[in-house]
Amino acid sequence: MVSAAELEAALTALRNGQLVGFPTETVYGLGADATNEQAVRKIFAAKGRPADHPVIVHLPLGAPLEAWASQVPEAARLLAAHFWPGPLTMILPRARHVLDVVTGGQASVGLRVPDHPVAQALLQAFAQHQPSGLAAPSANRFGRISPTQAEHVRAELGAAVAVVLDGGPARVGLESTIVDLTGSRPTLLRPGHITAAQLADVLGQPLDAPQRSSPRASGTLPSHYAPATPAQLVPTAELAATVAELSQGQRIAVLARQAAPRSLAAVDWIVAPDDAAAYAHELYALLRQLDALGCDRIVVEAVPDDPAWQAVQDRLSRAAYRTAAAHE
Ligand code: TXA
Ligand code: MG
Repeated sequence: MVSAAELEAALTALRNGQLVGFPTETVYGLGADATNEQAVRKIFAAKGRPADHPVIVHLPLGAPLEAWASQVPEAARLLAAHFWPGPLTMILPRARHVLDVVTGGQASVGLRVPDHPVAQALLQAFAQHQPSGLAAPSANRFGRISPTQAEHVRAELGAAVAVVLDGGPARVGLESTIVDLTGSRPTLLRPGHITAAQLADVLGQPLDAPQRSSPRASGTLPSHYAPATPAQLVPTAELAATVAELSQGQRIAVLARQAAPRSLAAVDWIVAPDDAAAYAHELYALLRQLDALGCDRIVVEAVPDDPAWQAVQDRLSRAAYRTAAAHE
């Protein structure tokens, strides 16, 4: 997957304050030494991301949370024991030394222990002193589709990344579930592969619903994860009729969970899996593929209104938001 020489090149780049693209089980990350302010600033420049948005600190398995968080509530220990390494990010009160550029100037810090052998090898090798971790958002330009393959990172960010480690296609395909543990009750900030029900099970209490979008949390802005082509969600029952009508005057690309009817055989029509996890795994690569067709519009068949589809539904509605807003 990744040779010792490639790993060494990535470590050298990180120690020199440069950026490294690395695989995680969710999406590829754009990593920098979380204790080096200049290095973390390069992430924002490379992504074109507003400077006050916080970035998640990625840690090797077994790293002491106290090195980053001023308080580690019992809920955090429970969730860490249960879900790490894995696609869960916890928001905790920051330790004093954590850089403002990492927290977006907030009183909290996001921590995550990713479950990918290459990410863990990199984090373990990088952790020769404490505190040590990699600040890493998804390795895409701000507001665009997250990368699930190494080649997506190179295509998006080019020379801004010193090294890209290729760990193959991301297993999960959607960004981590984010739970905020800084308040009196645990709150789900971003749905993901680990569901609210699974978290509630381990915590023994329900989670508060996602709050109204905080302007500091880019993954929670209404328009995000968006292809350049306007995208629109259409209920299953209206799909064929809507595509037939729209394709009168425009070139339409479709992402559906069913095959195209014969009357629409001429339309660019991609069939996605009908299983939520399999759909999530392929979604971003398929959106990139649809975007690359250069059509006038992307029509996406709405997904089932079911907890298993919550994370997919969340990303699709953000991908389609600009189009929906324009029609209001
Ligand atoms: O799966 C993932 O989480 C991927 C991989 C690379 O680990 N990372 C990722 O990072 O999605 P990013 O930057 O695209 O999304 C990070 C989001 C922020 O936009 C914000 O919503 C939340 O995490 N976040 C991070 N630190 C926070 C903090 N201190 N308080 C509130 N939200 C925070
Ligand atoms: Mg992102």
